Amino acid sequence: MSSSVIGWFRRIGWFLGGLAALYLVSCVYFQRKHPQPVLGAESTTPFAPDWPKGFLWGTATAAHQVEGGNALNDWARFERLPGKIAHGDTSGVASGHWNKVGEDIALMRDLGANSYRFSIEWSRLEPREGTWDDAAWQHYADEITQLKAAGQEPVVTLLHFTLPAWLADRGGATAPDFPARFGRFAAEAARRLGPQVRWWCTVNEPQVQMFFGYVAGTWPPGVKDNALAVKAFEGLLKAHGAAALALRAGDPDAYIGLASNMIYFEPAHRWNLLEQFVSNTVANGFNWSFYESIRTGRAQFSMPGFPTLDAPAPELKGTIDWVGINYYRRNLVRFAPGAPGMVDISNGPGTLSDAKVEIYPEGLLALLREGWARYHLPIVITENGVADSSGVHRPIYVRQHAYAAKQAIAEGVDLRGFFHWSLMDNFEWAEGYGWRFGLYRMDLKTLARTPAAGSEEFKRLAPAR
Ligand code: FCB
Repeated sequence: MSSSVIGWFRRIGWFLGGLAALYLVSCVYFQRKHPQPVLGAESTTPFAPDWPKGFLWGTATAAHQVEGGNALNDWARFERLPGKIAHGDTSGVASGHWNKVGEDIALMRDLGANSYRFSIEWSRLEPREGTWDDAAWQHYADEITQLKAAGQEPVVTLLHFTLPAWLADRGGATAPDFPARFGRFAAEAARRLGPQVRWWCTVNEPQVQMFFGYVAGTWPPGVKDNALAVKAFEGLLKAHGAAALALRAGDPDAYIGLASNMIYFEPAHRWNLLEQFVSNTVANGFNWSFYESIRTGRAQFSMPGFPTLDAPAPELKGTIDWVGINYYRRNLVRFAPGAPGMVDISNGPGTLSDAKVEIYPEGLLALLREGWARYHLPIVITENGVADSSGVHRPIYVRQHAYAAKQAIAEGVDLRGFFHWSLMDNFEWAEGYGWRFGLYRMDLKTLARTPAAGSEEFKRLAPAR
């Protein structure tokens, strides 16, 4: 063989060796950045929680899902369209909470809870644009007074999916004046409720509202349009910003955050770099873009198949004091050239809940670590729970997710609270009353509440009074 051919082979050898080394180094980098989360062995035993002082331990609900009688929002209208809600259910009387405030607060006390996250219903409070319903405001003010008297710290959400019909009529989350209208609503909330409320949550799961409402089209407004979806994302981001500014101006001790749904996305094969890359892209887009926009002061969203959003929004900077995480599941991500956006997303191999999502408490630990590493702001688990009508999964679910929280705290994450979804069974959006998330089981006819599986474990884990 001539020496030039040998030299050529040698160069190819070096090149391939270099590529392999680069691949290995990148793999090691990703493994270190996203190590496989592992829970301590005692996560399944009845461990002692020893929460930090002032830790919030409570349940979460949303107005439209529990109150009953909310007829003036986009959901009420959507529910009337045939085929939109499973079994033809409607929110109707929901869990009847509007008339059972005292009874439900007694349930919180029985659970050993010290806090309650709930939403106030914009369409009740401003049924017609520009007109406040004083009686409805008073109802919430009284509820908050009762909560505090019962030792329950209120965490008030301003927008949990439902929009007043008058706003939906002109584009809802994509209406140009949505942020301004929402800001005005937040200012009114600060004025009327601020003296009693410290913990505010501006919006709940903006990405979920965007995906179901504008991508899957299974929630209001029921469209499938990725460009509009990004517009809704931007609208929700600006609405959050307007609300935060209004709260800061109207309630000097306002402690502001929001609740973001986070899925633990994992590459289906940890040593497949392409899958690592795709999984990160999806996680950055779905889990983190709302918070990253706030951190950077630029409205940003980028995911395969969507128009890219990147616009200055300096007013967003500093608008949150804490980071809210709603956690329910893990998803495995594969690179799939034939699939939409070239990504295939599926459940992991573990047990599935009634909602057909994988139960994976380790994912909560990973997301708490990542949220802390990214922002170094206090974190609150604003929702976590399981659809489990038989009650076989909830006790261990509650225990293991609480253990993930305890482990994160032990590692130095500044976790301030944990809210179980939910206090009682309720109207689960497009699933109607099919999914049972309550620590109290609700009889759908009589609305009577009885302790569900998992409530004893929740009580056992409550911070000592
Ligand atoms: C969350 C929602 C909440 C409830 C739970 C099960 O995504 O914020 O309203 O539906 O899921």
